[in-house]
Amino acid sequence: MSQSNSNKRALVTGASEGIGRAFAQQLASQGYRVTAVARNESRLKGLVAELGGDGHDYFVADLSRDKDVQRTADALQKGAYDLLINNAGFGVKGRFEEIELSELQGMTAVNIDALVALSHAYLKTARPGDALMNVSSFLSFIPVADLNVYCATKAFVTSFSEALWYQQKDRDVFVMALCPGATSTNFDERSGADYDKIPKAMIQTADAVVAYALKHLARRRKPTVISGFLNRFMGGIHRIRTRKGAVKTMSGMDF
Ligand SMILES: NC(=O)c1ccc[n+]([C@@H]2O[C@H](COP(=O)([O-])OP(=O)(O)OC[C@H]3O[C@@H](n4cnc5c(N)ncnc54)[C@H](OP(=O)(O)O)[C@@H]3O)[C@@H](O)[C@H]2O)c1
Repeated sequence: MSQSNSNKRALVTGASEGIGRAFAQQLASQGYRVTAVARNESRLKGLVAELGGDGHDYFVADLSRDKDVQRTADALQKGAYDLLINNAGFGVKGRFEEIELSELQGMTAVNIDALVALSHAYLKTARPGDALMNVSSFLSFIPVADLNVYCATKAFVTSFSEALWYQQKDRDVFVMALCPGATSTNFDERSGADYDKIPKAMIQTADAVVAYALKHLARRRKPTVISGFLNRFMGGIHRIRTRKGAVKTMSGMDF
């Protein structure tokens, strides 16, 4: 356990599975007291039991619902958290006009509206030294045809976080966007994406993504962190291509 982090408090949304769960585990092993938030109570309970020690807790919240977002915001304002990780999010794949509008709006509610509301509540009472990490995506840089709204929500998250990174520097609050590429979690199954079509070398584990993110959080230098060497390499190539070419290539992978 790192002494510098002992007694620090972190709230992680979407902590019941995947990347959020790995954040909870690695932060706890660094000495943070973790509050885990998601909908699945039995998974949250299991996680807190697994983390062991004192001071970890959870609460159930569906971040597509205003009243649950408000409860989470209240907890953030009362809890004196040193770190907020806005990680909860999901994708929906398909032709835009064929997906139910309510499904798309449920996604923008969690990926954007809840993230903005929780960032706002947190930054209202943040103290010097505190940090906010928003989990965005590599796809925030390149739209993919069948993940159109999802990519746009993540473009919002990266842009929003980078602007806050600059604005919040004068009060010594660090803001960072984490941009993972394909990561082996439940994301692909839930979104309808097919990660079998992505080269295995490009798929990271949640543990690797989180270890890289926490390394950069400790450094507090970069506003935007892309996990995975191949993702950073691909990102570099796409930056020098036309937008048209980048969208065509990514959409053509049909994952
Ligand atoms: N996996 C990837 O390839 C990948 C790549 C780039 C970015 N990301 C981003 O990483 C983040 C975590 O995703 P993941 O890969 O770990 O996927 P995951 O395994 O499906 O986990 C998603 C987490 O979000 C929570 N969540 C979803 N809807 C929620 C809601 N309405 N209210 C509260 N919590 C909700 C889920 O918990 P409950 O179901 O218990 O509520 C779960 O804990 C997301 O923002 C995703 O966009 C993932």
